[in-house]
Amino acid sequence: MDVIFNRRSIRRYKKQAVEEEKIEKLLRAAMQAPSAANQQPWEFIVVQNKENLEKLAGISAYSKMVADAPLAIVLLGNEDRMRLQLHWEQDMAAAAQNILLEATHLGLGGVWLGVAPMQDRMDLISELYELKSRLRPFCVIPIGYPEEGQQHKLVDRYDPDKVHYEKF
Ligand SMILES: Cc1cc2nc3c(=O)[nH]c(=O)nc-3n(C[C@H](O)[C@H](O)[C@H](O)COP(=O)(O)O)c2cc1C
Repeated sequence: MDVIFNRRSIRRYKKQAVEEEKIEKLLRAAMQAPSAANQQPWEFIVVQNKENLEKLAGISAYSKMVADAPLAIVLLGNEDRMRLQLHWEQDMAAAAQNILLEATHLGLGGVWLGVAPMQDRMDLISELYELKSRLRPFCVIPIGYPEEGQQHKLVDRYDPDKVHYEKF
């Protein structure tokens, strides 16, 4: 699949809004992810309002690009649906990667901004959205049409030294 190989983190975006149909496709891709015992613990906050994007940009020193993105998706894990609690982050990571791959497929670009397990970042998002304690912020993904010079392209990371047959 070309999108797996070409996907790159995109941190600068055109002003152009992301169409509603594309936002739904991103969310559909997220919800198709595998999850432990099919628990699907995810919830998504879609953020498009400029003022809200600016607030969200403050969650860490490495999230500033959110302020200039036309869209961000906040991924949350819902404890009410975590039958296998230990796997929640793996489930959420699969959903996050699906969003990034679908974004690439749709001509968009995004970047995974780590939140969990850093408690300070989780707390900031919980406060911002007044989340009940059973919702765990996992990551934030700003998304938009890549600015000129920000295109997806292959960086070949294949390293045969990391592959071990039958024994290490
Ligand atoms: C768990 C996780 C947390 C990340 N957090 C940030 C972040 O806070 N800010 C940022 O600019 N990029 C963040 N990234 C993106 C990585 O820096 C990026 O994926 C990596 O440098 C490889 O580049 P590529 O995505 O273009 O292949 C994060 C990625 C992951 C998987």
